[in-house]
Parts: sequence; C-alpha cells; structure tokens
Amino acid sequence: MADADSMISAGPTNVSGATPQAVVVPLTRDTIFLVVTVNPDAESLASVRALCGELPKLLRAVGFREPAGNLSGVLGFGSEVWDRLFGSPRPGELHPFREIRAGSRHAVATPGDLLFHIRAEREDLCFELAAQIMMKLGNAVSPIDEVHGFRYFDARDLLGFVDGTENPVNQAAIDAALIGSEDPAFAGGSYVIVQKYLHDMAGWNALPTETQERIIGRTKLSDVELDDSIRPTCAHNALTTIVENGQEVKILRENMAFGQPGHSEFGTYFIGYSRSPRTTEQMMENMFVGRPPGNYDRILDFSRAVTGTLFFVPSQSFLDAVTPDPPTAAITTAAATETDSSTVAPRPSDGSLGIGSLKGNSRHE
Ligand code: HEM
Repeated sequence: MADADSMISAGPTNVSGATPQAVVVPLTRDTIFLVVTVNPDAESLASVRALCGELPKLLRAVGFREPAGNLSGVLGFGSEVWDRLFGSPRPGELHPFREIRAGSRHAVATPGDLLFHIRAEREDLCFELAAQIMMKLGNAVSPIDEVHGFRYFDARDLLGFVDGTENPVNQAAIDAALIGSEDPAFAGGSYVIVQKYLHDMAGWNALPTETQERIIGRTKLSDVELDDSIRPTCAHNALTTIVENGQEVKILRENMAFGQPGHSEFGTYFIGYSRSPRTTEQMMENMFVGRPPGNYDRILDFSRAVTGTLFFVPSQSFLDAVTPDPPTAAITTAAATETDSSTVAPRPSDGSLGIGSLKGNSRHE
C-alpha cells in the first residue's frame, strides 16, 4: 500500500540529501505515458513551473482515494525546454535523443518537452491524474503522444515473452537509475529514454517458437535464459548486455504493452531509466547498428520505432524548489555564457540543490 510520500518519491535520499522522484517503484498493472511540448510564451512556461510544485498535491489528491492503487508519477524534461524553464545549470548529460539509421532500421527522434510517466494498479487512477495534470496545464502545452499501457498476462510483451525479468531490484535498481556523486547538483535525478514500437504481429507469429526464442535470447513459456551454446550473439538480451571494466551496467526498464486490435495496432512502449543516457544509447546502437555492425537485433525486423525522446527526471527536491516566477538563470543564460559564472549565480549556503531557476541560485560547478 502506498503512503502519501511514496506516491511522489521512492527510495532513500542519496548522498546529496536530494529525494528522488518515484523512479524506482514496484511494477504496476497500468501506465500512462504522456508526452507534450510546452508552448513558447512566458505564461505557458510559468504554468509548467507552477505544476512542478503542485504535482505532489495532485498525486496525494488522486492517490489517497485508493491507497492500494499505488499511484505514482514521474515528470521528465527534454533538453531544449530545460533551458527555457530552468536555464543554468544543466544536467551534465542532457541532450536531445540521438536518432540512429542503419539499413532499413531507424530509431527516430520525435518532439517532446515533458514526459509524464504515471503508474498505478488501476487505469482510473492513472487516467484521473493525467486529467488533473492537463487541467492545470491548460493551453500551456500541446499533446504529442499519449499511450495507455497495460500489463499483459504475466508481464509479457505482445510478442509473447515475459519482459522485465533481468531488471535490477532494490539497491541495484537505485544504482542503475539514479545519479550519484558524478553530477552532485543533480544527484537523485535520472535520464529516461522512451520509444514507442509497433509490431508486425502476422510476421512475428509466423516464426517458429524456437526462432523467436533465439531472437529474444530466452525461452518463451518458462522465461529461462538460453544457454550460450545456442544463444546467438545477436539475441536481444545479448546485444543489450553492456559490460564496462568487467562490470555489467544495467538500466531500469518498465516496458508496457498497448494497442488497438480493431486498428491492427500492437505495440511495446519501451522506457528505460539510467544514471547516464550513454548506457541506453549504447544498447540501442547495438540493437540497430549491430555488435559488430550488421549483427543487429532481429526484433527490429518485426518492430518499428515510431517515437524516440530523451528526458531528464530531476529529483523531487528539485521540483519542490521550483517557483512559477521566471528563473533568473534562464533569463540570463545567454549572458552567462559570456560572463564570469560567479557573477551570474552564486552558490547558496543553505544546503539546497542550488538550481539556477529556483530560490537561491547557483551554477553547476
Ligand atoms: C520492441 C521493443 C522491445 C521489446 C519487445 C523488448 C523485450 C525484451 C524481453 C522480452 C527481454 C527479456 C526479459 C527481460 O530481462 O526483461 C528484454 C530484455 C532486455 N531489454 Fe528489451 N525489449 C525491447 C526494446 C529494448 C530497448 C530499446 C532496450 C534498450 C535500449 C532494451 C533493453 C533491454 C535490456 C537491458 C534487457 C535485459 C538484458 C539482460 O540483462 O538479460 N530493450 N527485452
């Protein structure tokens, strides 16, 4: 059962004292992935900044009506809107989604300023929170993509395989998803990449089960990893295994099934949180280009990415400190690049994160 605080944040505070958003939470049954762009006028930006502080209240208002529903919400920001909303400092690795083209495979980059990742055990909770958020935002945003995802039988994707088994859990999930001392001003934050995939179900279902299993790298019914003696190097779970300095580097996924059978739409919404976007990007490169090049992921012969966006998910502490007023640092971003940084945004002495757009500003050192 969720208490009021776990709706907005999960996991312990980290070394910086910042409380993360609810990135690391148990798997739920229902999800809404809502991507919007923020309209360019000052009023729209103020509405979004106001929402940052109001989101926890909305979560409590909706979630407390059914505590067993485990409602949670995560708010992420795209690279370009970050500057408009918050200016400087910026999260160290925040950049636009990098598209990949290889043969007929294309990881497209699509627009998106804000991501709302809403999770609960019940669709009505997700729906109500999304509705309340959109009511607050009004004309400040334009919708880009909205996907209502569901858990399909025993957490399978629509290709029929259990999806999520090798996700890190507990402290390993926190270590994989949340920024630590490598970017102290943004500790407790996370990078998230989303991609909406549509499947060619007729083509996929025409494959023998053994062929499907070699593409995924696991058995279909029992979800056991294939032995290396029969698992090809292009298996999905081989290409998405990243080892650096002898250690596996994980990400935290929460893929969801979605679709409209009446319109022959069958999809997987991929969402991957990581403390560095480079990890997810490397996995994607291995899938689309191949490791080595040409040895690509055959899931992509039956799945087409129709969206692709990268967001930064600041800590809850960051969001709590945002005010609706225009941020000094955002206004002075341009000037700041030409000026000595110490004259633009002094580091606060109050122990806060010192985000430039907020009360008590600082630049990221
Ligand atoms: C059509 C889209 C996708 C489908 C249907 C899919 C499905 C699956 C399935 C069934 C598994 C095995 C069970 C598990 O451990 O979760 C898996 C594993 C995994 N996938 Fe995906 N996936 C998709 C896209 C992606 C993308 C875009 C990435 C990263 C960029 C990714 C990263 C991973 C990772 C890291 C694993 C765990 C590998 C391991 O440690 O064994 N997947 N995926």
